[in-house]
Amino acid sequence: MSALKLGIMISGRGSNMEALIEACANGNIPAKPTLILSNRPEAEGLVTARQLGLGICAISHKSFGKDREAFERALDAALIKADIDIIALAGFMRILTPWFTARWEGRMINIHPSLLPKYPGLNTHERVLEADDAEHGCTVHWVNSGVDQGEIIAQTAIKVRPSDTPETLRARILVEEHKLYPEALKLACQTLLERSA
Ligand code: GRF
Repeated sequence: MSALKLGIMISGRGSNMEALIEACANGNIPAKPTLILSNRPEAEGLVTARQLGLGICAISHKSFGKDREAFERALDAALIKADIDIIALAGFMRILTPWFTARWEGRMINIHPSLLPKYPGLNTHERVLEADDAEHGCTVHWVNSGVDQGEIIAQTAIKVRPSDTPETLRARILVEEHKLYPEALKLACQTLLERSA
């Protein structure tokens, strides 16, 4: 199977990015991490990516003020220059405009720490505890113009324990994210490759 060029967009630590890079290096996914793009030049994940010898690019959203589309045009130009086939959002903390999501629709996936369609948006662990839910989890989905709304590719559920706090849930869910995201990226790549065959 030919390898798709993978762009990973991050804003911070990049632990999901690392899980994807490792799975690609192990030959588990028909994709080659080609560009790690961050909207925060100080993102820790960029340091990791550089150490791993990957192409990195920082485009600060702050330099574009309120012009979100201008920021996204810069992101898009970097992705096009690197000839990216598929984007994985991995803790990328900017809401994308319909212009960008339409451009990459069917070629961009995201990981979210909840059992979507429950709890799109922020503070998912707190909201699960407030609602007294028995289960929580993480989801990988295709990205469309709605925030955390696109078609679901894969999900993992865990049981909420009576002793859980937002921090314990965050930690347990993150372990699951690192297993789920590579599996879901593999499925997404297969879909793309089948579509272009
Ligand atoms: C993850 O929990 C992801 O689901 C959410 O942001 C967090 C990013 O963590 N969107 P990391 O940067 O991958 O370590």
